[in-house]
Amino acid sequence: MDLQLPDNLVTTIEDPGDCPPARWGILGAGGIARQFLNDAREGTACEVTAVGSRSLERAEGFASEHGIERAYGSYEELVASDAIDAVYVATPHSEHRAHAVLALEAGKPVLVEKSFTRNAAEAREVFDVAARTGLFAMEAMWSRFLPHFVVARALVASGAIGGVVEVVGDHGQSLEHIQRMWDPTLAGGALLDLGVYPVSFIHSVLGVPESLRSQGHLLATGVDASSATSFVYPKAIAVATTTLRAVSPTRAWIAGTGGRIDFDTAFYRPGGITVTLAEREPFRWQFDHPGGGFQFEIAEAARCIDAGARESDVMPWSATVEVLEMMDEIRRQLRVRFPGEPSLRPGHPVGGRD
Ligand SMILES: NC(=O)c1ccc[n+]([C@@H]2O[C@H](COP(=O)([O-])OP(=O)(O)OC[C@H]3O[C@@H](n4cnc5c(N)ncnc54)[C@H](OP(=O)(O)O)[C@@H]3O)[C@@H](O)[C@H]2O)c1
Repeated sequence: MDLQLPDNLVTTIEDPGDCPPARWGILGAGGIARQFLNDAREGTACEVTAVGSRSLERAEGFASEHGIERAYGSYEELVASDAIDAVYVATPHSEHRAHAVLALEAGKPVLVEKSFTRNAAEAREVFDVAARTGLFAMEAMWSRFLPHFVVARALVASGAIGGVVEVVGDHGQSLEHIQRMWDPTLAGGALLDLGVYPVSFIHSVLGVPESLRSQGHLLATGVDASSATSFVYPKAIAVATTTLRAVSPTRAWIAGTGGRIDFDTAFYRPGGITVTLAEREPFRWQFDHPGGGFQFEIAEAARCIDAGARESDVMPWSATVEVLEMMDEIRRQLRVRFPGEPSLRPGHPVGGRD
């Protein structure tokens, strides 16, 4: 469908309901798996035909609750199933590398929840396997596929707001009660769960910074509770804030020499933008659609898989690796290291300074 923007600019969004009918298997019957299931069914032509859990009882419970044909009591059985075309990895961050590789080695393309892996080195390992097997792999950074993100990118690319000078993103939720958020062995902390949204947003507008500086607070377990990070680019600055200790406004904006784009709160979810161009009335843009918003990324994955593509142009492998390099540098400066990770040394590609 065509979307009309100011100054006769038109951008196009493909209807997720028209995507190829891929059959998905969910790996990990946890919290986020439910939203994937609902949005795949309500908003796309895909179906969820199997679920795999570490426990057969949990898999069967999830399958009968949601009317899924097949339930498997191990991830190995799920990825080997003939009933699925692709795997959605919905486990904690610490497990993503192993589970994505498991699926790829079994010949199944993968959509892996954000953050894609714990660090950039693990992401490169997964993409190496995807390259070797010739299979599709993508980080489920759903926000990049939402209509208001597509429109904002089109506006920036058109020059409508002039040269970008400042990009700001925030994401705070009160999640201290969730054990996974505290646990270093599950790669917990605010950054990988929540902070990845503002960092990925900044990257989607400005790319890799020349340098970044990050400060914050840690929980008693050593994972990050809150952080504030500033990024410097040749002609722009950016700021990302995140916390798991409070519900913050979760706003974002892009300010340029000729205008500004303000995202609704919470910016990473379905919503709208307000565009303020120099000497004009602010213009509000919102595209209402059913479902929770995952349907746009699911449809993109189904289209890429159907076309034989290994990666998406909207969320390419390079973007996932670069965002993780930025987050590696943030964690190095915050002194957050997950069990078994090699030390995150200075001299990182992002160019942080102590
Ligand atoms: N896109 C979004 O809006 C959004 C929102 C929330 C979370 N997420 C992302 O989704 C992923 C999962 O988050 P979640 O909140 O759904 O997690 P969760 O409910 O804590 O765990 C998901 C499932 O992972 C499986 N699992 C495998 N190994 C595990 C281990 N060692 N410890 C615990 N569980 C393990 C479990 O399934 P079985 O027991 O069935 O094997 C569990 O139910 C994360 O990457 C997170 O960042 C995305």
